[in-house]
Amino acid sequence: MTKKDPIPLSVYIHIPWCIHKCPYCDFNSHEFKGQDIKNNEVIYTNALIKQIENFNFDSQRPIHSIFFGGGTPSLFSPATFEKIIGKIKDKYGLKEDCEITIEANPGTIDKQYFYGYRDVGINRISLGIQSFNEKHLKNLERIHNQKEAIEAANLAIKLFNEVNIDLMFALPGQTKLELNNDIKMALDIGSSHISYYHLTIEPNTFFFKHPPDIPDQDKSAELSDLVSEKLKYANFKHYETSAYAEIGSQCRHNLNYWNFGDYLGIGAGAHTKITSKKSIRRYACHKNPKYYISAINGNNYFDENRLLTTNDSVFEFMMNSLRLNDGFDINSFEEKTFLPISEIKKELSVAKEKRLITEINGRIKPTILGQRYLNELLQIFLRG
Ligand SMILES: C[S@@+](CC[C@H](N)C(=O)[O-])C[C@H]1O[C@@H](n2cnc3c(N)ncnc32)[C@H](O)[C@@H]1O
Ligand code: SF4
Repeated sequence: MTKKDPIPLSVYIHIPWCIHKCPYCDFNSHEFKGQDIKNNEVIYTNALIKQIENFNFDSQRPIHSIFFGGGTPSLFSPATFEKIIGKIKDKYGLKEDCEITIEANPGTIDKQYFYGYRDVGINRISLGIQSFNEKHLKNLERIHNQKEAIEAANLAIKLFNEVNIDLMFALPGQTKLELNNDIKMALDIGSSHISYYHLTIEPNTFFFKHPPDIPDQDKSAELSDLVSEKLKYANFKHYETSAYAEIGSQCRHNLNYWNFGDYLGIGAGAHTKITSKKSIRRYACHKNPKYYISAINGNNYFDENRLLTTNDSVFEFMMNSLRLNDGFDINSFEEKTFLPISEIKKELSVAKEKRLITEINGRIKPTILGQRYLNELLQIFLRG
């Protein structure tokens, strides 16, 4: 971004339902329990459209990326996405090369839907594969098996410009050999982007209440190194904590979060960040889908609406940009937070002394140590 460019603006749309709630998942996703999915799709889509129509703020910026995330967006039909994309286009305008991503679960693949998604303008797909190993897929209670994962990935590669696959490592009882096989199968698929997440045991999940036997810190570090080495060897750049991509295939939507860009969050629990008149405001929609629908119908959109303080801006900027292995430009800090870099002089010196960051030619980057101990690094920027 040069000095004159406006802060990029993207749109996130949340689809909060899944066929089965995975035992590790803390996302705002709810299992369908005998509900009529088609009826839900219609009612929820109407609420999304209403939010897009009524969401007014001071911006003339065209949308540079759209991301349909979940939950499981691939439960919804292409016609629904066509309607939503059309509404966003009418209201805000899309940049010519707008990246439009859908998250899909390999257990919900309907071939006709996949063709339809492509035909309504979706140009990137992100598949939640997690592992190719049947034992681990069962332990994670995934609704797909290895064969379905491979079929979904092959179809995705055939139809979309950009394909991401989500995988997780440090799974209960996972050996190096098993991880090696997963990495090999992922590379054989031929996608240009891999998100490789360290399985975390989140509060409010089944795994938190019934902890599985996961690899300890040392073993997890070894598994993490294996992922990095193998993907680097295959010419994937490790550009963010959990993201690897071939040149030119980084996810523009996620990069906008990590670069502290702006976004509109549409749907249950979705978050918005808007910069206007040298201040930054955050909003969040009501999290429960039923409550979100009735709140939207009553023109009461947000559960949260707050102006960021200086301390919030510092921490939130760092929390995002230090996830990037290339870090951030000092100019970008000043342009996005409206604060001089001297505001964080003390914290930067502490982080440098601890060898968690380096500064070269006006760019501040986490070191390998800083990447490994990201939480410790971020603590330095947490004030008050
Ligand atoms: C919102 S999910 C979307 C994908 C889709 N719902 C699916 O699971 O097929 C995004 C990704 O986050 C990752 N994820 C979810 N919970 C996680 C956890 N506790 N630890 C690590 N990664 C997790 C998974 O790789 C998942 O695919
Ligand atoms: S399918 Fe995805 S969003 Fe749904 S519960 Fe499983 S990991 Fe979470």
